[in-house]
Amino acid sequence: MRDLFDDRADGQTRNESLGVGAVLLRGFCVDVEEEVLAALRQVADAAPFRRMTTPGGYIMSAAMTNCGSAGWVTDRAGYRYDAKDPESGKRWPAMPPVFLDLAMRAAAEAGFEGFLPDACLINRYEPGAKLSLHQDKDERAFDSPIVSVSLGLPATFLFGGLRRRDPQQRVPLRHGDIAVWGGPSRLAYHGVMPLKDGEHPTVGRRRLNLTLRKAL
Ligand code: SIN
Ligand code: FE2
Repeated sequence: MRDLFDDRADGQTRNESLGVGAVLLRGFCVDVEEEVLAALRQVADAAPFRRMTTPGGYIMSAAMTNCGSAGWVTDRAGYRYDAKDPESGKRWPAMPPVFLDLAMRAAAEAGFEGFLPDACLINRYEPGAKLSLHQDKDERAFDSPIVSVSLGLPATFLFGGLRRRDPQQRVPLRHGDIAVWGGPSRLAYHGVMPLKDGEHPTVGRRRLNLTLRKAL
């Protein structure tokens, strides 16, 4: 949960390096959180959160939806990007301008000018939900970074190296933080520890994460 010490002091973002090409922008999203949450509600209204099945047959603990011209999906056939929501057969909701603007500004702050995401995966974690260690590698090219926005309950992010067995940093992610990884860190293994229970004043008993990518 955000407290006095997590606020951006004198309007400045405190950036924390996570490695070469990887940075955590503390509180970067706080200024636009209301617009982001309002847009998120509209997306979830058109394309409700659902828990998807992995190729191995497990139901993921985090619920997901997407917006943008491509959405990340998984089922028994595999992981992929799809222009349509398999639940409705309709295209995913358009990327809200506030997401695009935020992602472009965060990427530029992290040193990646000209980032133009076409996909936004939205994860919803309820207490106990987690995301196992993985690489984001279903995108067509790896020259764009990943921009990952945290909202709601705090979580512990695991940020490792290019090999699954590499040691991982345990990074606390709080409401409004944005992590960006690209360049030599683009394929870094990462994951989220099981969410601890709590109540966030504006987001409630959950954590929301937006991952913006260039998928196509
Ligand atoms: C992801 O890797 O897709 C999400 C990471 C997070 O929830 O912070
Ligand atoms: Fe990921």
